[in-house]
Amino acid sequence: MHDILRVTDLSAEELTAALRLAARCKRSPRLGQGVLAGRALALVFQKPSVRTRVSFEVAAVQMGGTAIYLGPEDIQLNHREPVQDVARTLSRYVDGIIVRTFGHEDAEAFARWASVPVINGLSALHHPCQAVADLLTIHERFGRLRGLTVGYVGDGNNVLHSLMEACGMLGVHLRVATPARYRPDRALWADGLVRAKRHGATLIWYDDSRDAVRGAQVLYTDVWASMGQEHERAVRLKAFRSFQINAGLLKLAARTAIVLHCLPAHRGEEITADVVEGPRSVVFDQAENRLHAQKALLMMVLGEKR
Ligand code: CP
Ligand code: NVA
Repeated sequence: MHDILRVTDLSAEELTAALRLAARCKRSPRLGQGVLAGRALALVFQKPSVRTRVSFEVAAVQMGGTAIYLGPEDIQLNHREPVQDVARTLSRYVDGIIVRTFGHEDAEAFARWASVPVINGLSALHHPCQAVADLLTIHERFGRLRGLTVGYVGDGNNVLHSLMEACGMLGVHLRVATPARYRPDRALWADGLVRAKRHGATLIWYDDSRDAVRGAQVLYTDVWASMGQEHERAVRLKAFRSFQINAGLLKLAARTAIVLHCLPAHRGEEITADVVEGPRSVVFDQAENRLHAQKALLMMVLGEKR
């Protein structure tokens, strides 16, 4: 039994194994067939989703099982029913639970109360499945990870936190540019510095986007206002104006640089349309890789137990 609430719930060896297995899943879509035979996953989502929901549902089908989607209206978490009751009830029916919550503490509560594995499909603090797909995408382009440099431009959010943990664990240098007010979580950053150092990587914050992307092999951005922050949108639009990936910024990166975005993308905000649609963008490979990465994680978490 193994919950995956954040990337560091995997060891560096497990993360490497997940990436290898995900690459094999991509080459051989039938791999993992039968792992979920006669078994079910519950997807407990408090926020909208295209990629996470559909890739988990398709993964379940390809692995011989089924996935039951429970949206915000179905569960009404903490209103109709507390997490501890939902987690214990679902554990009597299903073999694994994927959660998408607002507070990360709700994802943790799920893990505490469920008796089946819980995988975080995005919380306010972490998006581990995304980070596994991100590294898979980088690896398939460059054939390696260690020593590469990723330049992240934008908000110090869940996607960045997970990317930071994954890069640190596998020796990938990460340069982050955010407005001073929107830096990553202080405790996670402090952790990240220690982890990066231990694995021979660097983690550096800048207040100028250009410093983060100069010479980088990978550029990454995410929305300026995450789900649940819609009311801050006007303030954020102003604060983040110079934290956009556009053609000018891309010119500063390595000649062979690729551009990642977890999607959904807001064209004209954190990234321009020409860059999303341009030759350096691999955002749809990255989206596809969510499926392969999650199949690998499901095999690792649910593969043994029958
Ligand atoms: N990148 C991602 O998690 O997309 P969804 O919100 O559509 O699942
Ligand atoms: N940071 C974004 C990611 C969406 C996949 C959010 O939390 O809304």
